[in-house]
Amino acid sequence: MEFKRYLVTAALPYANGPVHIGHLAGCYLPADIYVRYQRAKKRDVKFVCGSDEHGVPITIRAMKEGITPQDVVDKYNTIIKDSFADMGISFDIYSRTSKQIHHDTSQAFFTKLYNDGLFQERESEQYYDEAKGIFLADRYIIGTCPVCGNPNAYGDQCENCGSSLSPEQLLNPRSALSSAIPVKRKTKHWYFPLNQYEEWLKEWIVVGKKDEWKPNVYGQCKSWLDSGLQPRAMTRDSTWGVPVPLPDAEGKVLYVWFDAPIGYISATKELTNQWADYWCKEDTKLVHFIGKDNIVFHCIIFPAMLKAHGGFVLPENVPANEFLNIEGEKVSTSRNWAVWVDEYLKDFPDQQDALRYTLCANAPETKDNDFTWKDFQDRVNSELSAILGNFENRAFVLMHKLCKGRVPPLHADVMSDADNALIADIKNAKVLVEADIERYKFRDALFNIIDLARKGNKYLQDSAPWSLAKTPELQLENQKKIDNCLHLCLQLTANLAILLNPFLPFTANKMCKKMKVVERMLDWENAGRIDLLKVNYPLNAPALLFRKIEDDEVTTQVEKLRANLKNATSAKMEQAPKQESTPEATQEKVQEAPVAKPEISIDDFAKMDLRVGTILKAEKVEKADKLLKLELDMGTEIRTVVSGIALHFKPEDIIGKQVTVVANLAPRKMRGIESRGMILMAQNADGRLIFVSPLEKADNGSEVR
Ligand code: MF3
Ligand code: ZN
Repeated sequence: MEFKRYLVTAALPYANGPVHIGHLAGCYLPADIYVRYQRAKKRDVKFVCGSDEHGVPITIRAMKEGITPQDVVDKYNTIIKDSFADMGISFDIYSRTSKQIHHDTSQAFFTKLYNDGLFQERESEQYYDEAKGIFLADRYIIGTCPVCGNPNAYGDQCENCGSSLSPEQLLNPRSALSSAIPVKRKTKHWYFPLNQYEEWLKEWIVVGKKDEWKPNVYGQCKSWLDSGLQPRAMTRDSTWGVPVPLPDAEGKVLYVWFDAPIGYISATKELTNQWADYWCKEDTKLVHFIGKDNIVFHCIIFPAMLKAHGGFVLPENVPANEFLNIEGEKVSTSRNWAVWVDEYLKDFPDQQDALRYTLCANAPETKDNDFTWKDFQDRVNSELSAILGNFENRAFVLMHKLCKGRVPPLHADVMSDADNALIADIKNAKVLVEADIERYKFRDALFNIIDLARKGNKYLQDSAPWSLAKTPELQLENQKKIDNCLHLCLQLTANLAILLNPFLPFTANKMCKKMKVVERMLDWENAGRIDLLKVNYPLNAPALLFRKIEDDEVTTQVEKLRANLKNATSAKMEQAPKQESTPEATQEKVQEAPVAKPEISIDDFAKMDLRVGTILKAEKVEKADKLLKLELDMGTEIRTVVSGIALHFKPEDIIGKQVTVVANLAPRKMRGIESRGMILMAQNADGRLIFVSPLEKADNGSEVR
């Protein structure tokens, strides 16, 4: 189908904490790239987002901080909104679900379904915290797991044995908020009959979307559909949220996953009087950008709601990304293991594109990926700077030197094969990049752009116009060839600006200024042209597009992460877990709980040579953010052991500590250092590492049995 207009949404972030770079990589950056591309194509596109300001995590955060939920959302809405704006995420509107227009819209939606007789009213007994005076969502009930005996299992799942649970199954349940023993209370709620939409969803997704949607998205939907859908309560007992618009519904609000996606509609209404064109006309392409923990809500529940209501378009695609880990570990807001966007911008002002580049080049499009500061440095220094920046800069410098600072002409009579090949590459890049973006393959698209710059560098190197101008006589003789080379390099630069614009808008803008062209040159239809810069047009002086990221900046950031980790429990970042996401997807669940290992015999154990040693020296291993090189006094010898604890300890803090060493572990080379043995550490549920040391000083080298 020919689409007349595009409606692009990005998941509404909960306003209970700042956004981190995992959010950007997962959802906001790809959405922004897609939208900027559509705008450059002159398509009719609207990009909507806003803060998700309801739900249990927000009330709990307010309770913990002793402020009102309104205070919480006011604070974070501002921080989040500013972070997005500063990073160049170009929403047409960033709204809030606490706005009147949203309350009206979501209530009207609910009322329509209610009047159609769709909801099933059901009474049930739910746990209630009398000390705090609130009903407890499953996650906020803690008790002993009936399967494995873990005393800290949650009401929806035991993280020790993985069993999914209901609060009723917990032994000795207690409230996570007050430790009070929860009591059962009768309560009434309105259930959406999701089961009645199962067949329709199967038809729509399994038959219709299998080949279009990303495999990770389709796979999750398929497994939900295969396990059968159940009616789902669309209301909650709470005072914070959109009130249920019924006479007998005092103290009840809409379930946050009912109202939040309707927020996309409210935001569009707030943006334009033409909102109904975008939501109700069949030739609208609706695309939801989200992270993987939101898949079921956007692919199953919200479409079923839209279908039940009637009159709305359904999403064409839901390109969900996986998660971005940081320095090899899952993001954890409660442990403060995250790179916060507002803090990045303070530490790296004017380096938005460096981050946009790294996050896109390394986006978790098909699997979880890892962000490391070292990789950030490498990508900026050896790709952005060394390939792209370098090419652009050389083109400018040489043009000023060899062509009097003006765009030289292209002489048809001296065109070489290399010239023609470069022209073909320029035209082809447009085709490739366009196809990638349309298929939501932003990494490939970016790769193809950098590849074009790489080809430019090679062309320039091979053509070597400087060697054609070694002497004034030589230059005179070769001027036409020199002109052609720099003419094409400059046209290539203009093309790079167009192609990069959706990805690195700050850079594209700078490039325009240097080329003294207006922003209209960046229209997508101009890509592939080699007459973008007028012959004889004077261009600005060269200036570097990117600055290098220094080693000490990397070290500082890694140390900052580690320091944050230490302070996490007292810090501002302590966030309540997200509620009711799919279990596999709760980013907060940091550690996989240790699973019991199979039984061993005493002989198996006796094979281990465990000994006490003292750390004499500790130093960082170059170019390995996680490793420390330790020298241990083992009584009869000094041993070198390389240990992956650098993110947790500063070298100087651990000197003199006694540790337990697995002394007969086969030696292993790490970063060229032979490591002989391993030190034992305990790891807390919050991820903190603790040395396993003798309680009193023991002799170095003494055996542990
Ligand atoms: N606030 C949710 C989250 O951060 C996303 C809501 S998306 C919406 O996971 F569609 F419901 F708005
Ligand atoms: Zn268990």
